[in-house]
Amino acid sequence: MDLVLDLGQQPLGNGFLLPDQFGEEYFFPLQCGFSEDSRLFQLIEQPAPELMFHQDYAFFSGTSQRMKQHFADFAEDVISKGFVTDTSSFIVELGSNDGIFLTHFAQKGIPHLGVEPSGAVADVAESQGITVTREFFDTNLAQRILTEHGQADVISAANVMCHIPDINELAQGIALLLKEDGVLIFEDPYLGDVIRLTSYDQIYDEHVFLFSALSVQSIFNSVGLELIDLEPQSTHGGSMRYTLVKTGRRTISPAVQEILNQELTQGLDKTDTFVQFALRVKESGAALRNTVQKLRRQGKSIAAYGATSKSTTVYNYAGIGPELIDFICDNTPLKQGKFSPGVHIPIYSENRFRDTPPDYAFLAAWNHVNELREHNKAFENTGGRWITHVPNVHVLE
Ligand code: SAH
Ligand code: TMP
Repeated sequence: MDLVLDLGQQPLGNGFLLPDQFGEEYFFPLQCGFSEDSRLFQLIEQPAPELMFHQDYAFFSGTSQRMKQHFADFAEDVISKGFVTDTSSFIVELGSNDGIFLTHFAQKGIPHLGVEPSGAVADVAESQGITVTREFFDTNLAQRILTEHGQADVISAANVMCHIPDINELAQGIALLLKEDGVLIFEDPYLGDVIRLTSYDQIYDEHVFLFSALSVQSIFNSVGLELIDLEPQSTHGGSMRYTLVKTGRRTISPAVQEILNQELTQGLDKTDTFVQFALRVKESGAALRNTVQKLRRQGKSIAAYGATSKSTTVYNYAGIGPELIDFICDNTPLKQGKFSPGVHIPIYSENRFRDTPPDYAFLAAWNHVNELREHNKAFENTGGRWITHVPNVHVLE
C-alpha cells in the first residue's frame, strides 16, 4: 500500500464534545493509502471502533426526510426484486442505527435482525418494534446468528461496510451467514464520486475504506461471492449500491461490466490517480480558508449548516475554527450545546440559524443541499448566501 494523502492530525468525526473534555480530546493521523493489488483506498490508521461507536454515537439516520424516503424505496426494491418474499424470509441488517430501513420489514411482520453496537440509536429502533442485537458484526456473531436464527435470505448494510476495519473477516462472516441463494446488498459512499468531486470530507475516522466496484469485487470474490448488480445512488454526495450473491447463482446485470470499465477509464486501479487527487485536495482546503478569511475581513458573518462528521475533516484540515465560523446549526438534539471536534465551533439548533441568520452559511451537509435550501428559503430570500466546497469552493447562485 502506498501513502497517497495526508490530512494531518484529526479528531473523531462524530466526536462532538463539551468544554471540560477539550483537554483529553483524541487525535490521530488521518492518512490514506492505496494498493494497486487489492484496489483498496483506505485509512492507514483507524481509531478503535469502540471509541467511535458507543452509547452516545451521535449520527441518527432519521434526521433527513430524504434519507427516510431513500430507505423506504430501498426496502421496496428488496421486496419487489423478490430477495425477501414473505414471513418465512429472514433479513439481517448491519449498522441498523435508528431502524430507518428495517422498520419497513418489521411493519410487515418479516423476521429481521438489526446488528447495531451504538446504544442511543439502537434504543430508537427498539422503541419502534425492531429486533436489535447490540454488537459489532464479525464471524463470531455471524456464527451465533446462524445458530439462533438460521441463514439469512438477505444481508443488507448502508454506510457501514466501509466502517468495518477487518474487511476479510467481515466478508467471511457474511459468506457464512448468507443462504446459498441469498443476497448481500449494501451501499456506501463511492470512491469514483469522491475522486470526481474532490469530496475529501468523505474521509474521516469511521470511513476506513472508500469502495469502488473493483475493490468490492476483489474482496468478495475471495469468499465465493460475485457482483450481480451495481446501482449508483445520489445519496450522501454519491454512493454505490452493490448486490452480490454466491458465485453462479443469478444472472449478472450488464451494469457490472459497464461500471467496472468506467472505473478503469477513471484510473481507480492506479496509484497516480490518488496522488493527483491529493493535489486537488490541497487546493480545495486552501481555497476554502481563503474564501472565509476574505469574507470575514469584509465584516461578513459566517455560520455552518449541519454538524456533520464530514465537516470535521474540512475544518481541521483547512484550519477553520470559531474565529472564522461563528456557529454550526444542526437538528440533532445530541449534538446541540456541544462543540465541533478539534476546532470547537459551538453547535446550536436550527432555530438559532433562523432567528439570527448569518450573511453566509457553509454547507457542511452539502449532500443534503436540496433539502436544506428548500427548508431555508427565507435565508436566501433575505440575502443570505451558501458557500460550498464541492466540487470546488464557490458561493451558490
Ligand atoms: N445504516 C444507517 C447508519 C449508518 S451509520 C444509514 O445508512 O443511515 C453506521 C452505523 O453502523 C452506526 O450506527 C454504527 O454504530 C454501526 N456500526 C459500526 N460498526 C459496526 C459493526 N461492526 N457492525 C454493525 N454495525 C456497526
Ligand atoms: P450527514 O451529512 O452525515 O447525513 O449529516 C447531516 C447532519 O445535518 C446531521 O447531523 C443532521 C443535520 N441536518 C440538519 O440539521 N437539518 C436538516 O434539514 C438535515 C437534512 C440535516
